[in-house]
Amino acid sequence: MTKAEAEQKLEAIGQEHVLKYFDELDTAQQEALLTQIEETDFAVLAHAKDGKSEAGRGEFSPLAAMQRDEIIQREKEFHDAGCEVIKAGKTAALLLAGGMGTRLGSDNPKGMYDIGETKPVYIFQRIIENLLDVVHETDTWIRLFIMTSEKNHDATVKFLKEKNYFGYKEDRVVFFKQDMAPACDYNGKLYMEAKDRISTSPNGNAGWYSSMVRAGLDKILTDEGIEWIDIFAVDNVLQRICDPCFVGATALAKVSVGAKVVKKAAPDEKVGVMCLEDGRPSIVEYYELSQEMMDAKDENGDPAYNFGVILNYLFHVPELAAVKDDAMPLHVVEKKIPYIDDDANLIKPTEPNGYKFEQLVLDMIHQLATCLPYEVVREHEFAPIKNPTGVDSVESARELCKKDGIEL
Ligand code: UTP
Repeated sequence: MTKAEAEQKLEAIGQEHVLKYFDELDTAQQEALLTQIEETDFAVLAHAKDGKSEAGRGEFSPLAAMQRDEIIQREKEFHDAGCEVIKAGKTAALLLAGGMGTRLGSDNPKGMYDIGETKPVYIFQRIIENLLDVVHETDTWIRLFIMTSEKNHDATVKFLKEKNYFGYKEDRVVFFKQDMAPACDYNGKLYMEAKDRISTSPNGNAGWYSSMVRAGLDKILTDEGIEWIDIFAVDNVLQRICDPCFVGATALAKVSVGAKVVKKAAPDEKVGVMCLEDGRPSIVEYYELSQEMMDAKDENGDPAYNFGVILNYLFHVPELAAVKDDAMPLHVVEKKIPYIDDDANLIKPTEPNGYKFEQLVLDMIHQLATCLPYEVVREHEFAPIKNPTGVDSVESARELCKKDGIEL
């Protein structure tokens, strides 16, 4: 793209300031900026006008979860079936580690955070150790994909290499980068993170499958006959990954996706709740739950919308090709976005100062035909780290780990 073409593209969307420093850049920087302008999809900025996500929800109805009593009763059946699938090499794990973890406030990738008290215990370490339990139990090195973004890729790879992958087999780990989206202020004006670079943010965790395909990694899924892929967040330090019972229950149910869920702590708890939307599996956000939905009861007299998702999904690989990125809503999220001010000083805001644009993995669920919500015990499998203190924090996760017998 030439400078004139860039000017034209930017003028059409009222973002001419992107080229403010162009003439003082060296040739390589100029080329990099022109390439970024050429490759960036600025259409997302239209959503910054009212700061609202594309909404338009359908009609919600309850979706029954498989609960603990049934799981305990059928434990051996599920466990045996799951072990068989895992031992046949049909299961992979995918760590979503492309997020910026801005609420935690560390400059490093979130997985590098040390939650130890008497010794180092890194978030990545907790996750890998949990997966290693299954590796050892099934005597199978499960393929582990790790999604990063251009913001944290090098640091993540370097750290895990240095730590010897916390005992995971290096040749079973594959990294790939997710895509980015531009970030802007509350008026939709693009931020610049340097004189030669528009501010960008990872484009949400739904991009994992298309980014994987773009990186040519779907070939690994095909070549290795991987039928199930367990997608999970970096921040839940207690979660079980590819655990045989979950794999077995999902495979036996022959659904498009299994979703780990926990019983809600209170009717208005701030978690997305598993449900049906226009007859297809979906997740209703806590702020979308009407009083009527909160009061609704199932046939046992229990709350009908009672199970929250914990970002651990087991997708049936053959059905993923039908999931379309452009059919997923775009979420407009307020974030702290680093930018250069009028004097080109880099500012790292302490409060949200604009919008980033994301597509979320939970919206993939709605494109699939069937889902098994699978109940896990909150105290044993849900210790998310979003904040340094308070709710869903390093503090609360430490307490939960210690209760589960994990030495910190
Ligand atoms: P969060 O919703 O906690 O977002 O991500 P975040 O960006 O990491 O953190 P905050 O909101 O800035 O504090 C849930 C999971 O999805 C991954 C995260 O790494 C985490 O595992 N994620 C999120 C991605 O992989 N890519 C993204 O673009 C966003």
